Amino acid sequence: LPSNNPRCKSPPNLTVTNPITGKDIWYYELETRPFTQQVYPNLGPATLVGYDGMSPGPTFIVPRGTETVVRIMNNAELETSVHLHGSPSRAPFDGWAPDVTQPGEYKDYYWPNEQSGRMLWYHDHAEGITSLNANSGQAGAYILTDPAEDALSLPSGYGEYDIPLVLTSKHYNQDGTLKSTVGETTSYWGDVIQVNGQPWPFLNVEPRKYRFRFLNAAVSRSFALYFVRAAAVNGKLPFQVIASDAGLLAKPVQVSDMYVAMAERYEIVFDFAAYAGESLELRNLDKVGGIGTDDDYAHTNQVMRFVVGADPVADNSTVPAKLRDVPFPPSSTGIDHRFRFHRSNGEWRINGVGFADVENRVLANVPRGTVELWELENSSGGWSHPIHVHLVDFRVLDRYGDEANRGVMPYEREGLKDVVWLGRHETVLVEAHYRPWDGVYMFHCHNLIHEDHDMMAAFNVTALDA
Ligand code: C2O
Ligand code: CU
Repeated sequence: LPSNNPRCKSPPNLTVTNPITGKDIWYYELETRPFTQQVYPNLGPATLVGYDGMSPGPTFIVPRGTETVVRIMNNAELETSVHLHGSPSRAPFDGWAPDVTQPGEYKDYYWPNEQSGRMLWYHDHAEGITSLNANSGQAGAYILTDPAEDALSLPSGYGEYDIPLVLTSKHYNQDGTLKSTVGETTSYWGDVIQVNGQPWPFLNVEPRKYRFRFLNAAVSRSFALYFVRAAAVNGKLPFQVIASDAGLLAKPVQVSDMYVAMAERYEIVFDFAAYAGESLELRNLDKVGGIGTDDDYAHTNQVMRFVVGADPVADNSTVPAKLRDVPFPPSSTGIDHRFRFHRSNGEWRINGVGFADVENRVLANVPRGTVELWELENSSGGWSHPIHVHLVDFRVLDRYGDEANRGVMPYEREGLKDVVWLGRHETVLVEAHYRPWDGVYMFHCHNLIHEDHDMMAAFNVTALDA
């Protein structure tokens, strides 16, 4: 051999570096699998499919700034794709609908969690069967905790005074089995209202303040929620909205009812102190207070009951007059993109396109780092659509066009959102900062029947130097 051959060296050690924080990553495992639930006491059980065999799935509680890797094993019969709704995930971990995991396989999802505190949710997003998978149970809450929130002394303690309330509306067959969404092309309303999986449940509470985190995980039903005293059902009781999709509002908003369309999250503080020894009911306005187009049934105006303890308790929690400085995006200049949500030839469409139209489904290119104003117009006649944009939090700037002329609700205006409800004939303006990643992301109607058929499209966040 020639004497000037290279020296044999060991490759260098690969050192572990955490892409964002340099801190340990939290690793979880979840499994999508069938389970049964007795919904009607006198009928057979329903077979459902949920994360770790429950619905809602187990709640993640993750401190802000802690990255997670979640291995999700598909032990169901159908393919799955998991989206962490409310997270600016990298595109390969965003639940892209065609990126499905087959039964018997798993996928590892990486989620950055660097956002401020909020309640996100994880749910199925498999192409064409999202409604089927989600209705069968594939949805769960994901809470990002935040020291800035902890400092406020809001009611706290997960499952104690800080309680997620995941709403669904399902439909069961004569034998007690779940009615599938297959074959539905307009909506799946459901006539059984369930909260955290239980039909019209009750909750024992103390006469003090509670933080409730509402998530509407229903396939098609919107809610307009209000509280009444069971003994005197006329007279809505006041409560304070403190947070929306993207976390705390700037300041609490006192209301006596609140719209919650599909995929929206609203957090409230309700003070039971004045109702010691009473029963209260959480109810839902018929036709969602005139904004929705939902079919109502005998008991869809009822949601759950609160049984308030008689004995006074200490309550050190407070709702401060200022909650935080909301990081609203810098102002944009004029409308960058217009999207029309409509129906044509029996299919739901965005600007004439459905997600299956692979060649045309990218409806916008957005240079990374820019702030854009999007106009979302509902031109589908008598239907309404909650529109979700992946990757970003947006500010709802304006809403017009509907006969109800409701404008932007105060609890929408005071915070950032990732879903906005487009009521009948409404047009909404949303402004967002498109970052931090490049990639192709989905936006769509969150009526899951509409999403599957096929009111979904994509936008491409392009690299700065592209
Ligand atoms: Cu909650 Cu694209 O979904
Ligand atoms: Cu829709």
